[in-house]
Amino acid sequence: MSSKSSILRILEQQKGSHVSGEDLAKQLQISRSAVWKAINELKKEGYQITAVPNRGYCLDPSSDRLSPEGMESYLTEAVSVGNIHVYQLLESTNVTARQLALDGAPHGTVVLAEEQSAGRGRMGRRFASPKHTGIYMSVLLRPHWSAEDSLLITTAASVAVCRAVEQTTGKSAQIKWVNDVYLEGRKVCGILTEAVTDLESGGIESIILGIGVNFSTALADFPEELQHKAGSLFEKPPEHLDRNRFAAILIQEVMALCDTLTSRSFLNEYRERSLVLGKTVQVLPFGKHAYPAKAVDIDGQGGLVLALADGSKQVLRSGEVSIRGIFEGDC
Ligand code: BTN
Repeated sequence: MSSKSSILRILEQQKGSHVSGEDLAKQLQISRSAVWKAINELKKEGYQITAVPNRGYCLDPSSDRLSPEGMESYLTEAVSVGNIHVYQLLESTNVTARQLALDGAPHGTVVLAEEQSAGRGRMGRRFASPKHTGIYMSVLLRPHWSAEDSLLITTAASVAVCRAVEQTTGKSAQIKWVNDVYLEGRKVCGILTEAVTDLESGGIESIILGIGVNFSTALADFPEELQHKAGSLFEKPPEHLDRNRFAAILIQEVMALCDTLTSRSFLNEYRERSLVLGKTVQVLPFGKHAYPAKAVDIDGQGGLVLALADGSKQVLRSGEVSIRGIFEGDC
């Protein structure tokens, strides 16, 4: 680990408190001038660090920049901090994660960006990703699941997001089939899962699980057409809760659910959190006409079981549903 990285880790762990240059130098067995150089580099990267004579360096309590060092103290051993990569600006974390997958990156590699210039959404839509206010994250998975079980990952991920949201906001989060997470009637998270296929065998080589959470995005920062339905976890996050902490909790919840995915034990929780079960929905099949149906269950593969007007049943595995008056269209 570089001196800069070690210093950032210490300052993040003691955010809001002063740490003397002498202590840092001693702890890391480097010179005072090496400490000073590293602090200057961090400041250039945008970290708000103040230096007070006789007290030392202090990372401002309001500092909220994503970094593996900032997440480290919230991670358990199950997640390797060395596999977390944070970028300032990416086209899309899913694109970068796919490239890392092709380059041989291991299972559990996480890519985060402070901003995405072309964040991808479902159905070819864009995912608005304004800087420093969201969690735009892709997790590279190299599971040994069957193709059928792999279909469950998005369903499981939406449960993981709800758990992380609830732990941090104390509010109940819900899921609109298939994978949008809602808080107090507004969409706060979207998930886009993409597979990297092995061209020779045609099988799934790895999975890119892309999750976008609006953490503290102001309404005005969403595109105008989304402002009536998009929301954020916080208008102003409490001081003890920065994005590093939320991201660490989310990564852990995701990895924990991946470990037990094939047991399907999370499906009951998914059903309980569902916003559509028991309601009449408009089914919006890809490229076909919309029709009404009653959402009656989520099956063992995460499919939406519908009761149609003629008394027959249908299972929806892709596409979209809307509930009139609540979720017209999507974001
Ligand atoms: C949707 O709501 O349609 C899905 C949105 C998924 C957005 C996330 S942000 C991180 C990852 N990178 C992307 O380009 N998209 C996903």
